[in-house]
Amino acid sequence: MEFMKNVWKSAKTDRKIIVLPEGDEDRTLIASEKINKEGLADVILVGSSDIIKAKAKVLGVDIEGIQIEDPETSSNTDKYAEEFYELRKNKGMTKEKALKIVKDPLYYGTMMVKMNDAHGMVSGAVHTTGDLLRPGLQIIKTAPGVSVVSSFFIMMVPNCNYGDDGMLIFSDCAVNPNPTADELASIAIATAETAKNLCKIEPKVAMLSFSTMGSAEHELVEKVRNATKIAKYRRPDLDIDGEMQLDAAIVPKVANQKAPNSKVAGNANVLIFPDLQSGNIGYKLVQRFGRAEAIGPISQGFAKPINDLSRGCSSEDIVNVVALTAVQAQTSK
Ligand code: ACO
Repeated sequence: MEFMKNVWKSAKTDRKIIVLPEGDEDRTLIASEKINKEGLADVILVGSSDIIKAKAKVLGVDIEGIQIEDPETSSNTDKYAEEFYELRKNKGMTKEKALKIVKDPLYYGTMMVKMNDAHGMVSGAVHTTGDLLRPGLQIIKTAPGVSVVSSFFIMMVPNCNYGDDGMLIFSDCAVNPNPTADELASIAIATAETAKNLCKIEPKVAMLSFSTMGSAEHELVEKVRNATKIAKYRRPDLDIDGEMQLDAAIVPKVANQKAPNSKVAGNANVLIFPDLQSGNIGYKLVQRFGRAEAIGPISQGFAKPINDLSRGCSSEDIVNVVALTAVQAQTSK
């Protein structure tokens, strides 16, 4: 696939350090060997060195030269606990609790990123999305000027003319259950930036609803309308428009009827869903019925990149998400 080929190429040009907290997990170990051999990133595996080495031997995986960090024995654990305590003491954190928490591989990996011992983190082959996001939200927090962390999927729909020859970006499908109008505007702007910087496409952002340009009145529509206004006000340089129905967003003929004055309608390649129910259901509909490849969820808005995997992921998926995370790390300040 052309898009992933370009991501791999970019990742190799400026090799980043990516920590994998599920270091003793089979698919993660298989992926680590491939990432190392391809030169996509320098991975660090978190976990017990003895267990990781024994598992790698059983799997026939070569992890020679790959760094292993064991939170139980690492000389960094006390330093990370101290910093974590400082970050969370106003939330009731104690020094004792902090030491216990940073020994959890997900918190340990997140602290490695925070303390610049790694550039990014990938996890989720075993843990849930919430398990991964919570330490990220508590420790890494949002990038300057960004109010909310969100996520996106790159959808590759075969034999399709919508979007950029079947490539569309969907957001938010994995993080914010019910964003406010202000948060929805922030998600739209972040996704437009992602489209430009990571996907190298000129974003045309549609704010989706069950109404097109005032065809229906409801508080749910009002939220999307307000979000559109806020996003346009904040970033007049971006092509963002709404509220609009999905068909008006992507089908030129429908757009001509329902939103003839919109530059985005009929040409949208970035679809912003009003809440997590519609976003999550929406991407899965396209993935299953449209036989689309869904790359993600990839996080956006964190000060440093932290990404989730699906628990059903393959080792190839892990390789690709690590490469994407490395490319995000190249552009994060
Ligand atoms: N952006 C920035 N900060 C946030 C966000 C956000 N989107 N959400 C929460 N926070 C902050 C809070 O302000 C809080 O900060 P503080 O502790 O410093 O004050 C911290 O993060 C923790 O917030 P909580 O509200 O306590 O966290 P919560 O337990 O609600 O977890 C989470 C947040 C994990 C993102 C939650 O909203 C969630 O579970 N979302 C849905 C995830 C999910 O299940 N997705 C679907 C499956 S994925 C798939 O199908 C591909």
